[in-house]
Amino acid sequence: MPTLVTGGAGYIGSATVDLLVDQNEPVVVLDDMSEGHYDAVNPEARLYEGSIGNSALVRSIVETHGIDACIHFAARTNVGDSVVEPGRYYANNVGEGLSLLNTLTAAGVKQIVFSSTCATYGEPVRIPMDEDHPQHPQSPYGWSKFFMERMLEDFDRAYGTRFVGLRYFNAAGATERRGEDHQPETHLIPLVLFAALGKREGISVFGSDYGTHDGSCVRDYVHISDLAAAHWRALGYLRKGGKSDFFNLGTGRGQSVLEVIEAARRVSGREIRVKMEARRPGDASYLVANAEKAGDVLDWEPGYLEIEQTIASAWKWHLAHPNGYAR
Ligand SMILES: NC(=O)c1ccc[n+]([C@@H]2O[C@H](COP(=O)([O-])OP(=O)(O)OC[C@H]3O[C@@H](n4cnc5c(N)ncnc54)[C@H](O)[C@@H]3O)[C@@H](O)[C@H]2O)c1
Repeated sequence: MPTLVTGGAGYIGSATVDLLVDQNEPVVVLDDMSEGHYDAVNPEARLYEGSIGNSALVRSIVETHGIDACIHFAARTNVGDSVVEPGRYYANNVGEGLSLLNTLTAAGVKQIVFSSTCATYGEPVRIPMDEDHPQHPQSPYGWSKFFMERMLEDFDRAYGTRFVGLRYFNAAGATERRGEDHQPETHLIPLVLFAALGKREGISVFGSDYGTHDGSCVRDYVHISDLAAAHWRALGYLRKGGKSDFFNLGTGRGQSVLEVIEAARRVSGREIRVKMEARRPGDASYLVANAEKAGDVLDWEPGYLEIEQTIASAWKWHLAHPNGYAR
């Protein structure tokens, strides 16, 4: 039966839609195109342009297509903006997210794969972070995902909605068809590659006095092909009757900001100028996943383990799309 993919015109959603289509899964995409790209939507998937909070539209999509599961990517994702405009973030990610859950439940769709994030953990108290790590988000964005997680648990208890909450670490890289094109871009790898392309003067590194090996922040970069594969496995898990659960998705390896820049220099063969700046409020020092549970339960293993491989895939995409999708 067809799967509804919300946010399927975005970065991770579009790569996941491609994978589902390649697996002969019928897919329907719902995206309000606030951040999505028409050219990112696989032509085999039917695209509905509208909000997840539009219950009449969601109900009609479920009835028309006989939807039995939903992969819910749609959200606003800029952490810094969420601090400045928390109302907008909570309205979209939590308010409209709740409306989506209510509509799906009323329409009988009780299998949901949800895009959560390591931002629900906050500053680590142990490394690597497993799913039982305490959750104390540092931003409204992180809290918005945390609240959705709690609502999913309550929906399971009350209505039998089974879910898989996937807590991604830092999504990165590109496939042959899809790459990263956020407006404005805030993620490290595309910004570093823009510097390599000469689209910006250089890259700012925020903080050189963290308690990491070189003083810059450390993150776990997980490739979007691997994330897409995890969604496919999560869907299979739910369809086989798997119980609701949360899973980290990461490589288990950490790269510092300075290491990412060095790897981008090697991959691109270009000079990348660096400006050292003060720490930014809210940046955790070290976020690396323990993703063993996803391996054990979902049989998921990341294929991209070397940061050079991930950066090389992104570099190829940015060279082919220097102005992003259709611009
Ligand atoms: N990129 C990362 O590193 C990362 C890490 C952890 C979690 N996530 C989560 O993964 C999901 C996808 O992230 P992404 O990087 O692909 O973001 P993205 O902005 O590229 O994609 C999100 C899509 O959702 C759509 N959207 C937003 N609000 C909507 C609404 N109310 N109704 C319909 N569509 C709406 C946007 O138009 C966009 O196409 C998000 O939920 C994000 O929070 C991303």
